[in-house]
Amino acid sequence: MENILVIGAGFMGTGIAQVAAQNGYRVYLQDSNAGAVDKALANIRWSTGKLESKGHLKDPAQAVQERIRAAKDLAVASKCNWVIEAVYEDEKLKKDLFRELENICPAETILASNTSSIRITRLAADAQHPERMVGLHFFGPVPLMLLVEVIKGEKTSAAVFQKSVDFILSLNKYPVKVMQDIPGFIMNRISGTAFREALNLVEEGIATVQDVDTGMKYGYGWTLGPFEMADYAGLDVYQRVGQAFKAMGVESYAPTSTLIDKMVQAGRLGKKAGKGFYDYMPDGAKTPFDTTQLT
Ligand SMILES: NC(=O)c1ccc[n+]([C@@H]2O[C@H](COP(=O)([O-])OP(=O)(O)OC[C@H]3O[C@@H](n4cnc5c(N)ncnc54)[C@H](O)[C@@H]3O)[C@@H](O)[C@H]2O)c1
Repeated sequence: MENILVIGAGFMGTGIAQVAAQNGYRVYLQDSNAGAVDKALANIRWSTGKLESKGHLKDPAQAVQERIRAAKDLAVASKCNWVIEAVYEDEKLKKDLFRELENICPAETILASNTSSIRITRLAADAQHPERMVGLHFFGPVPLMLLVEVIKGEKTSAAVFQKSVDFILSLNKYPVKVMQDIPGFIMNRISGTAFREALNLVEEGIATVQDVDTGMKYGYGWTLGPFEMADYAGLDVYQRVGQAFKAMGVESYAPTSTLIDKMVQAGRLGKKAGKGFYDYMPDGAKTPFDTTQLT
């Protein structure tokens, strides 16, 4: 059984750990924030139980859960075939983490980042072995979304890239190969551009959040409108991604805006906070938030 260490037990790390365990990998989950891993394990118990009850799991939920263990620090990386980081979208944080991992992992361990926007080449800039670093950009919620972008850094070896594509196939996901390491890769360039325009329309008072979402769902067949999608991903996450795009000088793709900043400041972080562009009720219903209250 191959071992995987997932670092960062937030929205994405939790999902990545679950999907890897569902597909037979032994998973270690680590987070610097006390309590985050326990919360993640509880979410995984809930999610795998639900998938099992619908007949969507190959193995019993309990067996899947038992494949995931909490790791108190990074030492366990010494026996892992894969390390996938899903910590905050912060270039320095990720680079420091990879530097530390290089001192722990054997040469054959593949080091992957789930970054939404930062070029893998930048994350690998100070690495001793940049050829083993790759981007694995999952989409959330990971247990439900079938796409993963596999990003080839300038120095990622062909062998590591191919192994990464095969790894994603082993998780029963569709790999999309990103052959040139550009900020935002493929999908977030497209969705970031659409979201920036959606924000402009709302900030200028031309349309409401709900009307933009309705339009994109019923006019273009999107499953979720751009604001619903932002609430799912987390507005704090969007804010950090926007800052990362800005730092790379490609602001045109970035969902930065004063409205996002104000939403985050007001604690409107999206679905996880029970409030974002919509207010979420315990029964699953949601009502749109009047963003003019913050402008
Ligand atoms: N939210 C999305 O829809 C989405 C989609 C694709 C990619 N991403 C990317 O995935 C990454 C994580 O996003 P998320 O939405 O899961 O964020 P999140 O805020 O839900 O989780 C991040 C976790 O990382 C932990 N963390 C921070 N620094 C750490 C460190 N040094 N060591 C260990 N743990 C640390 C935090 O405590 C937190 O639990 C980001 O790079 C983000 O851009 C997010």
